[in-house]
Amino acid sequence: MAAKIIDGKQVAADMRAELKAETARLKAEGIVPGLAVVLVGEDPASQSYVTAKERACEEIGIYSDDNRLPADTTQETLMALVDKLNKDPKINGILVQLPLPKHLNESAVLLAIDPAKDVDGFHPVNVGKMVVGEEAFLPCTPHGIIQLLVRSKVKIDGAEVAVVGRSNIVGKPIANMLIQKSPTGNATVTVCHTRTRNLADHVRRADIIIAAAGRPNTITADMVKEGAVVIDVGVNRINDATKKSGFRLVGDVDFEAVSKKASLITPVPGGVGPMTITMLLYNTVVSAKRAAGKKA
Ligand code: GUN
Repeated sequence: MAAKIIDGKQVAADMRAELKAETARLKAEGIVPGLAVVLVGEDPASQSYVTAKERACEEIGIYSDDNRLPADTTQETLMALVDKLNKDPKINGILVQLPLPKHLNESAVLLAIDPAKDVDGFHPVNVGKMVVGEEAFLPCTPHGIIQLLVRSKVKIDGAEVAVVGRSNIVGKPIANMLIQKSPTGNATVTVCHTRTRNLADHVRRADIIIAAAGRPNTITADMVKEGAVVIDVGVNRINDATKKSGFRLVGDVDFEAVSKKASLITPVPGGVGPMTITMLLYNTVVSAKRAAGKKA
């Protein structure tokens, strides 16, 4: 079987058009959603993510507040900035780009963000609400994956899913979302990680494979059941002298070979990536509506 490509850029463009129309309606009522982005240090990948997030805000009519701090920023300075943003009525969403430099206490920073402005869905209050199935800001990458599956008409209910990776940003939350008793859940989920004894045995059973290991070629064709749906969350920089930048991006899946067996597959780039930013914009618009006392 030759897989159909799930075009994340197209799904993201459709959703962003919906969001743009929504922000225009809100603007007519004097409501402008605002997102504050905080970046500490000069990590090139983080810089390009943050720039992409700010551009996306502009494109759909969200006010974006750019906070770029030097790598040697102290915990106190960062906490004071979060406190200021928590109190700023123009700001509906606060995003602190991760990872933070090693000397900073990441969990203390995430805990300091007002859960009502936690559009990343990383605050323990939002994580807890998600786990017990209450309304919460859902983390953007897993929420984007659910959107891709739903909009590609993939049957999640009753499906066997293998999640490969157990990060707080992708693996743990997507596993949780897929087991919820809800129209976008009801899956049977196996979470695999670096200590899983026989990865291939678990992945081979799956109707849906979610690769979020952060390592190229983690999923090879021999591990994939004929007709499986493959979602590749990996973003790995590989040296490539033919590129002007000196690198190219690859996912965690051996795309060439796996796309001959899968029924549906996401490319890298152009699959999950564009959805992450889109769900951030979505959460920011929802937050602005809630802050204005409107039903989100
Ligand atoms: N680093 C990698 N992914 C993310 C994300 O979704 N949000 C934040 N804040 N940092 C990240």
